[in-house]
Amino acid sequence: MTTGGTVYKQGWTLDDVQWSKFDRSRVEPWMVAAIKAAALVEFNAPDYVRYLKRVFKDAGPVTLDAIEQWGCEESQHGRALGRWAELADPDFKLDEAFARFRAGYKPAHFAETETISIRGSRRGEMIARCVVESGTSSYYTAIKDSTEEPVLKEIAGRIAADEFRHYKLFYETLNEQDEPDLPFWKKLMVAVGRVTESDDDELAYAYYCANVSAADMATKPYKRAYYSQVATQAGMRIYRRNHINKLVQMVAKVVGAEPHGWLSTLGGALLWRMLRLRSGREPSAITPVAA
Ligand SMILES: [Fe+2]
Ligand SMILES: [Fe+2]
Repeated sequence: MTTGGTVYKQGWTLDDVQWSKFDRSRVEPWMVAAIKAAALVEFNAPDYVRYLKRVFKDAGPVTLDAIEQWGCEESQHGRALGRWAELADPDFKLDEAFARFRAGYKPAHFAETETISIRGSRRGEMIARCVVESGTSSYYTAIKDSTEEPVLKEIAGRIAADEFRHYKLFYETLNEQDEPDLPFWKKLMVAVGRVTESDDDELAYAYYCANVSAADMATKPYKRAYYSQVATQAGMRIYRRNHINKLVQMVAKVVGAEPHGWLSTLGGALLWRMLRLRSGREPSAITPVAA
C-alpha cells in the first residue's frame, strides 16, 4: 500500500523505523496522550488472537496461521507506538501502563470458554473485524496526515498499510465461510453495532491507564463517561471528514452496499455527527463531565 508516496510493505520490524529522526519540537502533548492509549489497545492483541482461534477452531491451518500472524502485527503496532510514546514522554512506560490496563479490562468474550462469536456467526465476526480494521486504517492514516513529527508520521504510515491489509484478510475470510450469507439488514446491523458500540470501554479505559500514572490513580479514579469523551475528543482532533468517509466506504463494501452510494454518504454524515456529539463538539452534546 502507498501512503503519502512511500510504499510500506508487510513484515517490517522496529529496526526499520528511523528513530534517529525523532524531533521533540514537533511533539504535541494531546497527540502523545492519544498514541499512548492506542499503544495499549494494540498491545492487547494476544487476547483477541485466542478468542478468534476459538471461534475459527475448525477453519483449517491457513486461517489459523493468518490469525496468528495478524496478532503478531497488532502487538508490534503496540510496541512501535509505545516506544514512540516513551521517547515523547520519558515518564511513560508501556509495560507498566499495559499491566494496569490488562488487569482492569476483561470483556466477557475473552473468557476461555467462549467458542461462538459474540456477533452470532463467523461471518458476523468477520464483518465486525472488517469494521475495526476500517477504523484503524483510517485512524492511522489520519494520524500520519495530521502529525509533523517525522517518526510518528513514519510509524503511522506503516501501521495504516498493515491495517488495510488486515481489512483485506478479514474480507477474504468472510467470503470463504461455508455458512450461508447473511441478509443485508443483518450485515448492516452487525456493522453499525460495531461502529457505535457503546458498552465497550476499551478505548476509554486504555486512555485512562495510559495517561493517569499508578501514583495518581487513587486521587483520579476511572470515570468512564469522562474518559470516553476525552478519548473521542482526541480522535476528533486527528480525524478529518475525508478519513471518516473512507472508513464508511470500506464498511459499505463489507455489508454489500455501494461504497459511493447514498447509504454510504448518509452513513458518513451520521458517523461524523455521532463522533462530534460524543466528543462534545456539537451544541446539543453531552454535558461535559468533571474529571
Ligand atoms: Fe493495529
Ligand atoms: Fe489491524
